[in-house]
Amino acid sequence: MNLWGGRFTGETDQHFAAFNASFRFDRRLIFADLQACAVQAQALGRAGVLPAAEADLLTQGLQKIRDMIAEPGFLDRSEFAATEDVHSFIESRLVELIGPVGYKLHTGRSRNDQVAVATRLFLRGEIERIDEVMRDTERALIELAEKYATDPLPGYTHLQKAQPILLAHFLLAYFQMLERDRDRLRDVKKRVNVLPLGSGALAGTNFGVDREWMAQQLGFDGVTRNSLDAVSDRDYIIEFVSCAATAMMHLSRLAEDLIIYSTQEFGFIKLGDAIATGSSLMPQKKNPDSLELVRGKSARVFGHLTAMLTLAKGLPLAYNKDLQEDKEALFDTIDTLSDSLRVMATVLRNIELNRERARAAAIRDYTNATDLADYLVRKGLEFRKAHEVIGRIVVYAIEQGRELNDLTLEQCQQFSSLFEQDLFDAISLESSLAGKKQLGGTAPEQVQQELQRAKATLGI
Ligand code: ARG
Repeated sequence: MNLWGGRFTGETDQHFAAFNASFRFDRRLIFADLQACAVQAQALGRAGVLPAAEADLLTQGLQKIRDMIAEPGFLDRSEFAATEDVHSFIESRLVELIGPVGYKLHTGRSRNDQVAVATRLFLRGEIERIDEVMRDTERALIELAEKYATDPLPGYTHLQKAQPILLAHFLLAYFQMLERDRDRLRDVKKRVNVLPLGSGALAGTNFGVDREWMAQQLGFDGVTRNSLDAVSDRDYIIEFVSCAATAMMHLSRLAEDLIIYSTQEFGFIKLGDAIATGSSLMPQKKNPDSLELVRGKSARVFGHLTAMLTLAKGLPLAYNKDLQEDKEALFDTIDTLSDSLRVMATVLRNIELNRERARAAAIRDYTNATDLADYLVRKGLEFRKAHEVIGRIVVYAIEQGRELNDLTLEQCQQFSSLFEQDLFDAISLESSLAGKKQLGGTAPEQVQQELQRAKATLGI
């Protein structure tokens, strides 16, 4: 039965009814909705709007619905297929279970504040859950960083070899990104965790429900201060999707790096069978589909962000049905981010570093040229001039088909008389790494310190 029959004499068009219905997806809010419904029932009792016995009956009925839907497949029953939305589902079941008193639950409430409170409660729980999932991905980064704590890798800018770094330093860069993502989500939670219930359809309610009390019961940090705003804004969803999009962007970058490093051309890492796939045609292939999908799925979350902003931008105050479109964007964002984080954690736990190859690559192709320039600076030359001298030495070394380490002291001295025998120590892989020992640098001792710090952050 519809929740709004009285004004109507004609039947709803069947296609429109299906178009209008949201139960197939908003049923995901059912536990949150039931929780808020129970507090609504008690608030009506406390305000003297309903006798205590009726309020209790409503609460018991809601508890029964909870038990009923815990049965697997219950919500999939064909008799519920034509249900309009999760809110009408709850009311219908309530009336079936406890009789006409069930109709009193909606006193002073609208689906507009009902859906807002359910969504906020639901999202609060999901943010807490995602935080856990994200922590596990961070843990996987740390595990890999610990396994290869001192192994070097070339660092890149413009995807051209730049300077040697530690693999652990590379991994901890992504740890930092995910830490900020978690921090952003925690911050969003503050604005999600505010009670809109008691706003009615748009103007407030004629019944004196104690909103502060309801907020307390539901674990909200506060109550919304304007009923029009409370029922119609979805900025908390937009913010959440925006944070999720940023996190997906980070995962996508990590995926891209790992895809590149696993190619035959780079060959720094080997992906385990558990997270790779083969080709139906080419027998030799092992493809990084897991990572490609993480990279690819970022696109749909970016799409949801655009959809949410576009959805909200032209809506006059207060509630408009357009807002029903927020659900699928929100749910898919939650699922895509959670799944991508989990897959990324699994990938990280199935990576092997090709130590020799990564080490050899880290020092080849003049990645120590900057260290050689810094050497001249320490001998008293201005940096710009040192840069110029080393640039010319690099050209010379390329012509000779040699690395800087393979040149003789005499060859170097042709370019500057400041060179001495100690230059070779200064440009070894070890001293290149060890030199970067200020906070945030890639020196092994520094990276070790950050690794410990990262572990402490996660309490491991
Ligand atoms: N399914 C609706 C939504 O998600 C619930 C609120 C409906 N309110 C209304 N007045 N039609 O927005």
